[in-house]
Amino acid sequence: MKNPRNIVILTGAGISAESGLETFRSSDGLWANHRVDDVATPEAFARDPALVLDFYDKRRAAAQKAMPNAAHDALARLDQAWPGDVLLVTQNVDDLHERAGAQRLCHMHGELMSAWCTSCDARHRWTGALGDRPACPTCRAPSLRPDIVWFGEMPYHLDMIDRALSQCDLFVSIGTSGAVYPAAGFVQSARHFGARTLELNLDPSQGSIFFHASRMGRATDLVPAWVDDLLAEV
Ligand code: APR
Repeated sequence: MKNPRNIVILTGAGISAESGLETFRSSDGLWANHRVDDVATPEAFARDPALVLDFYDKRRAAAQKAMPNAAHDALARLDQAWPGDVLLVTQNVDDLHERAGAQRLCHMHGELMSAWCTSCDARHRWTGALGDRPACPTCRAPSLRPDIVWFGEMPYHLDMIDRALSQCDLFVSIGTSGAVYPAAGFVQSARHFGARTLELNLDPSQGSIFFHASRMGRATDLVPAWVDDLLAEV
């Protein structure tokens, strides 16, 4: 394929699996051990805030102990060296991409290291627990919630993502099952605008048929090799 100019990359939980963070839909994943309706909806938070806050406090602590892996490092290298546009769209709420050095990055499902005040709407970088209902640094109300996009809520940055998809000539999906929209539909948008599409994943995703090419394997093997090939053409 001729050298792409503008690239959009979508990542999911699979890119952080080799950093020791749980994925969602594996046999022993997060949704095997928790009900979405108990921990990942606004109704769940209204019904039992302590249960929801504890679920995210545990994931925030795990994410802080985790380290970026070779796949995160490779994408950061691409972000820094690529002369064209690159947008790294992650569904993940861990901060491993930024800790690896990625900058042209957006978290469409929110971030564990951010707390959102339901009283004054302020957002704060947050690395501690929320379970003890700490005061919002801005308005002092005990109204902080995880800054996570729950089921039924609107993902973040969709306008920017749609614009990037309409202008990219390469779309690459890494470590996602293609189970959740709108992320699962990005490949079809990219194709509609004429982009080539590539999937790098451990298993075929639910959207594999929409990709021009798919490579199966672990992210720490596939992603560095793909980035090295791309940068060799720069
Ligand atoms: N390397 C590459 N891919 C991997 C690896 C690995 N080491 N390990 C797992 N995978 C793949 C799996 O084959 C699977 O297709 O990563 C994917 C993980 O899928 P999910 O667990 O469904 O996670 P994800 O696709 O990110 O979920 C999307 O669903 O629940 C919501 O908001 C949540 O952002 C999440 C969204």
